[in-house]
Amino acid sequence: MSIKRQVWVAAVGVFTVTGAMLSFAVTEQEQQIIDRIKPVGEVCIQGKSDCAAPVAAVASGPRSGADVYGTACVACHGTGAAGAPKLGVAADWTARIAQGEETLVSNAINGIRGMPPKGTCMACSDEEIKLAVQHMVAGSQ
Ligand code: HEC
Repeated sequence: MSIKRQVWVAAVGVFTVTGAMLSFAVTEQEQQIIDRIKPVGEVCIQGKSDCAAPVAAVASGPRSGADVYGTACVACHGTGAAGAPKLGVAADWTARIAQGEETLVSNAINGIRGMPPKGTCMACSDEEIKLAVQHMVAGSQ
């Protein structure tokens, strides 16, 4: 190997190493910029490997009565706020249960006196309200 060639190889080596170090430093900075300016959403074409795993599909079918109760009803029916019959207090429920489930469910859906329609859970389906009513009734006898 000639001296010239050795110098050349060494120079390329130095360049490569420095280049790698430099490009690393820049990349980190660039990455921060990229992160800051990246779009809030990305189109993900199904089957493409560069997409993040798709968000798990929301389970179809109604949420459980306990779930609905825990998010939409507990605020009043857990505390008795505004005179709401409390879950687990049989005395609050006996006369109401005597009306029959259909009436209870329809009152829960349409509202009655201090009970707002669907307990204000407009995203709740009628079926979910029914399951929540059944959950409350089952836990209050
Ligand atoms: C803002 C407070 C509030 C929320 C939230 C609420 N309720 Fe009520 N609920 C009441 C009150 C107050 C009553 C009693 C109304 C009355 O009979 O005067 C009541 C009564 C009821 C009754 C008895 C109705 C009857 O015919 O006696 C059912 C069933 C019921 N609520 C179901 C639900 C369900 C299911 C949810 C959640 C999806 C819910 N409520 C959320 C306040 C609330």
